[in-house]
Amino acid sequence: MKTVTIITSFILAGILTAFFLGFSPVESTGKLEYDDEQEGLEEQLVIRFSHVAAENTPKGMAARDFAKRIQAKTDNEIKVEIYSNGELYQDQNEWAAVANGNVEMIAPATTKLSTRFPDWQVLDLPYAFQGYPAVQEAYEGKIGQTLLDDLRGTNVKGLGFWYNGFKQFTNNKQPIQSPSDMNKLHFRVMPGPVIEAQFQALNASTSELSFNKTYRNLEVGFVDGQENAISNIYSKKFYKQQSYMTLSNHAYLGYAVVINEEFFEGLSNTHQQSLTEAMKETTDWVRRHSIEINDAHIRKIKRSSDMEIDVLTTEEQKRWREAFKPVYLKAKQNISNELLQELERIQQTHSP
Ligand code: SIN
Repeated sequence: MKTVTIITSFILAGILTAFFLGFSPVESTGKLEYDDEQEGLEEQLVIRFSHVAAENTPKGMAARDFAKRIQAKTDNEIKVEIYSNGELYQDQNEWAAVANGNVEMIAPATTKLSTRFPDWQVLDLPYAFQGYPAVQEAYEGKIGQTLLDDLRGTNVKGLGFWYNGFKQFTNNKQPIQSPSDMNKLHFRVMPGPVIEAQFQALNASTSELSFNKTYRNLEVGFVDGQENAISNIYSKKFYKQQSYMTLSNHAYLGYAVVINEEFFEGLSNTHQQSLTEAMKETTDWVRRHSIEINDAHIRKIKRSSDMEIDVLTTEEQKRWREAFKPVYLKAKQNISNELLQELERIQQTHSP
């Protein structure tokens, strides 16, 4: 009887202690080290960020910079999972993925929105921008705001624009110096009416192929060439399959950073503010660093390949601008006057 009383008192004492101190070993031993696999799983919000570019490019690095900033600003309440190189979705299906909430963020090349939203074609016009400040004025001014507003009603919210660099032509057939050198060449292109018109004006043919299928199509010779920013030509190793590159700077490659609207609206005001701030800071970061990333990549290409690299002189560029006039005539049918006038204003402000 005495033994039963002693055991019962121990059990009671244990229950009472647990009741007053709490049952959790975490609470009784203090705070755990941060571990994003474990901590507050129910409260942690995850942004799945899908894109098709390589990690060592302006977009890949900007995505990582954004992830770091937002995690820091929200004390890890928001975590960003990045899926690069088209690991989750390719060009053709990433818009549907973000609209349906299968991922929360994507950052497609602006061109890839231009079939769905015709005004976006304005950013693809050849020689639209005379240098980086002109691009910034378009992205961060009236043109950018109008284009982001255009996405309303799609369950996809535009957050802003990220920078990469000016596009250059590469090909495997011959050096390209004058517009007539493009005659009858076959190019891989992003889908977009202005891009199509640009190659038509040069009497070249095109195939719309997803970014991550480009290397293979260059390798087997299905296409003779492609146009891209240097960081993509380097990181996707296109230069290994191409004998000639022309530094034409004929158009600018940048990105629309967009988020699933329902997800964004579901965030608290504080989280929305942190996201907006992180986005702004990363945009500044990638604007400042995209130029040096592309410069570093051209140096690496020069060091590691014997590709012939030709540069267009100002005189030669004039002939290309002349050749591209039909592209502007065609684009006028699709792009609003207001945007074309604003582009003209930017061109006048930044003319050399
Ligand atoms: C990208 O930079 O996201 C891809 C561009 C392309 O499709 O050429």
